[in-house]
Amino acid sequence: MGASGGLHLRPARDSDRRALWRIHTEAVETLCQGVYAPDELNTWVSLLRPEGYLRPDRPRTVLVAERGRRMVGFGQLDTRQGELEALYVVPDEVGRGVGSQLLAALESVAWGDGTPLLGLDASLNAENFYRHRGYVSLHPARRPLTARVQLACVRMQKRRPVTASRQEPAAGAMTPT
Ligand SMILES: CC(C)(COP(=O)(O)OP(=O)(O)OC[C@H]1O[C@@H](n2cnc3c(N)ncnc32)[C@H](O)[C@@H]1OP(=O)(O)O)[C@@H](O)C(=O)NCCC(=O)NCCS
Repeated sequence: MGASGGLHLRPARDSDRRALWRIHTEAVETLCQGVYAPDELNTWVSLLRPEGYLRPDRPRTVLVAERGRRMVGFGQLDTRQGELEALYVVPDEVGRGVGSQLLAALESVAWGDGTPLLGLDASLNAENFYRHRGYVSLHPARRPLTARVQLACVRMQKRRPVTASRQEPAAGAMTPT
């Protein structure tokens, strides 16, 4: 993965779990403030756990962004479902292109895998961010956290651009054994 303006993207590894959890928690607590009620934010972060990331039973593409040696954001993609499941940036790096670069890299993975449509549930504060990057808002949605708390969000999707290149299987890979 490339480096740009001191920013470097790489696949997440098992030892990153705690840092992923910290970034996720900080981003929700700080950047989603004002859009969601304190009670909703508290419930949201209380459900996050370091062991919830990179679960061996749930294979995902998880990329992290580092500036220097500091992890400043991450994104998670389920390529089989064509679903962007998470994109979070530490508050003091917001507006410096970290989210855009992570999103572009995850989209490249999805399009390269032949995913025709990428979907996501955008938190209300992130809807414009995705819209500016080609996602279309479909309808309001709710992400259930507990029986009592459901987060309002927006269902969005983006179609694979015709120019996106799909990785062809290696020669012989399709040959039945
Ligand atoms: C949404 C999020 C991932 C975007 O990441 P980011 O690194 O800030 O993204 P970028 O810097 O590439 O772009 C941010 C946009 O905000 C603008 N911006 C600039 N300064 C900003 C600031 N101080 N605060 C907020 N936005 C700012 C940028 O110009 C850009 O605008 P554009 O959409 O018109 O291009 C990040 O803000 C975040 O983690 N939010 C909280 C968690 C969240 O809601 N995640 C999405 C879950 S679905």
